[in-house]
Amino acid sequence: MTIRDSFSGRFGIIAAAAGSAIGLGNIWRFPYLCGQNGGGAYVLVYLICVALMGLPIMLAEFGIGRSAQSNAYRAFRILSPRRPWYLIGVMGILASFTIMSFYSAVGGWTIEYIIRSITNSISGDHAMQFNDFISGSYTPLFYQFLFLALSFCIVMMGVSKGIEKTSKILMPLLLLLLIVLCIRSVTLPGASEGLKFLLKPDFSKLTGNSILLAMGQAFFSLSIGMGCMITYGSYIKRNEDLMSSAGMVAGSDVLIAILAGIAIFPAAAAFNIEPGAGPGLVFITLPGMFEQMAGGMIFSAFFFILLCIAALTSSISLIEVVVSFCSEEMRIKRGLATVLVVGCIFLLGTLCSLSLGLVPGLRMFGMNFFDLMDFISSNLLLPIGGFFITIYVGWVLRKRITVKELTSDGSLKFTGMRFFYFLIKYIVPVAILIVFISGIL
Ligand code: PHE
Repeated sequence: MTIRDSFSGRFGIIAAAAGSAIGLGNIWRFPYLCGQNGGGAYVLVYLICVALMGLPIMLAEFGIGRSAQSNAYRAFRILSPRRPWYLIGVMGILASFTIMSFYSAVGGWTIEYIIRSITNSISGDHAMQFNDFISGSYTPLFYQFLFLALSFCIVMMGVSKGIEKTSKILMPLLLLLLIVLCIRSVTLPGASEGLKFLLKPDFSKLTGNSILLAMGQAFFSLSIGMGCMITYGSYIKRNEDLMSSAGMVAGSDVLIAILAGIAIFPAAAAFNIEPGAGPGLVFITLPGMFEQMAGGMIFSAFFFILLCIAALTSSISLIEVVVSFCSEEMRIKRGLATVLVVGCIFLLGTLCSLSLGLVPGLRMFGMNFFDLMDFISSNLLLPIGGFFITIYVGWVLRKRITVKELTSDGSLKFTGMRFFYFLIKYIVPVAILIVFISGIL
């Protein structure tokens, strides 16, 4: 465990955890699900899920990680030896694989769009261009491979050098660029319809299933429910305030998602693009806007480069969960573990990519393989993981340990402690169960 303790300072760990949280989930997945599930009401449910479920679970994960000083699997083994809670860690590993299989495909799309921007070949019918690209040939597979190869290199470089430096400089830049795009988007003629769609809740559009999707998105976007934040928690110094760290990570994550929505929906309305256009939404809408901006291709290249990097910082956190398990628990050499893990992800990921066009028969349970992997991870594995984490912290882990962790050994005051316990013990697990059951049935 030589890499432990290698984050320098407060900003380092928050930036790294935010680097994991902020990614395709905010800019690609949030807007497209929001578009398919009726806009404003979905956003509201998503925000409630982040505040009442996401934040407490993130805090619980940070607490478990810092108290045990290890990865998710080992943390449960240390805190509750001879009990099966380590299975939460095992489930997290499964979630890593399923998420990475489609995440790497979308990461590949961002590389294709970087190249299109640089070669100035974004023009014409954007929807057709996008659909031709993802379904037409083996190029998406090539870019998926490239994305995984980049992730592989960063994971091999180790924690502090790779993750920390990139996140610290580039995430604020992404925020700035998004603000510029928001301004452009809302000033397009006809933009107000899109803004209304995003901000005005229409509760008649809300179904059990869309509530489940909003909850799944909260888990996915915050990187919780699979032990990722347990690992990051183990890097947080003892005197840091976990609550404010979790608040900053969740706050910046939500901010980026909402800004992405403001950049996309007004533009979609202005260009007559259906908000429910599906996974291609951001790749169809924003290129149209770039075309209309002075120096648009420069903005476009810049945007897709930053999006790709945001995706990379999330993808390395996902890969790291599995690699650290293999190297620390199974004693496989780190290099070999990384090769094996990335190789398996590519195999599974190939099926995701192919299911979008070349092999349309790759379907199960009424979904193509890509959507199936997405559904299994975000709407099943992460909420189930989150459920057991709350049960563990609320009912199993001794309160003394949790209080000690959240108050940094009594040196900080944690005013919301009783409320936190109330949420973690009763509200969050019950709410997850209700949403889960009403969404699946
Ligand atoms: N939160 C990341 C995103 O929004 C995805 C992710 C999920 C990363 C789970 C790690 C763990 O893109």
